[in-house]
Amino acid sequence: MDMGLKGRRALVLGGSRGIGWYTANLLREEGCHVALCARGQAGVDDAVRKLSERGGGQVIGAAVDLADGDATRRFVRETVAALGGLDLLIHNASGFAVDGSEDAWRRGFEVDVMAGVRAVEEALPALKASDAASITFIGSMASKYHFGREPSGYGPLKAAMRTFANEVAQTYGRDGIRANVISPGAVWFPGGAWDQRKQENPKFYAAVEKAIPLGRLGTGEEIARIVVFTASPAGLWLNATHIAADGGQVAAVD
Ligand SMILES: NC(=O)c1ccc[n+]([C@@H]2O[C@H](COP(=O)([O-])OP(=O)(O)OC[C@H]3O[C@@H](n4cnc5c(N)ncnc54)[C@H](OP(=O)(O)O)[C@@H]3O)[C@@H](O)[C@H]2O)c1
Repeated sequence: MDMGLKGRRALVLGGSRGIGWYTANLLREEGCHVALCARGQAGVDDAVRKLSERGGGQVIGAAVDLADGDATRRFVRETVAALGGLDLLIHNASGFAVDGSEDAWRRGFEVDVMAGVRAVEEALPALKASDAASITFIGSMASKYHFGREPSGYGPLKAAMRTFANEVAQTYGRDGIRANVISPGAVWFPGGAWDQRKQENPKFYAAVEKAIPLGRLGTGEEIARIVVFTASPAGLWLNATHIAADGGQVAAVD
């Protein structure tokens, strides 16, 4: 199937590692021009170098902390100018507000919610001009599932992201802009949080694997395929929706 991505311009917020990286990589494989950001300059440089080795088209990256509103807005504007427009906006980064402190709540709010709000606002004129515009947010099963941890901002802020995505989809659908949320369950990739847990607490990791109907955690590539399909013109009739990409980990009907 041709996903219709050749020559499209994509921006991945938080794209140097993990799910964001696998997504940027697949977008390149499908022929997109790709822009990405992350906080760490070394990770950005490495990602840009690897993506540039994948042939023609533009690859740009910048060290940006998405908790910084002005820097986020500037980066989105600069990306649109450098790519000559924008078709796909993917908000992947999280503040991972998992410890319940006020600082974590605030950081999670800035990164998970406000960076998305700011990026959408700045990208709107370019997305309105695109004939294949989509906005894809990376959420989490935590937006609808209690892990048995102490209360924290992580799940509630991902839930806010879902509501915001619906508002965007309902408002800008008539401008040809779609918005959706993909919520991964537990995802393993080398060097990721679940890789660390696997090494630190193999018993816990094995219990999580056992609780997933497919008998293992998802991979970065598997989530990226769902993200890229949803964001691509091939996923055109997906709009204002939430997709649980969790291998059945949340044992409930949405
Ligand atoms: N992995 C899972 O099991 C899982 C499960 C459910 C949902 N998710 C969701 O999937 C998304 C990606 O998770 P992941 O596990 O792939 O994360 P990750 O491995 O920590 O990678 C996050 C990426 O975003 C960048 N980033 C983080 N904070 C940023 C900030 N403030 N400003 C700019 N860039 C930032 C990171 O680079 P720098 O550190 O250099 O900034 C990195 O490139 C998150 O939204 C997460 O909530 C993941």
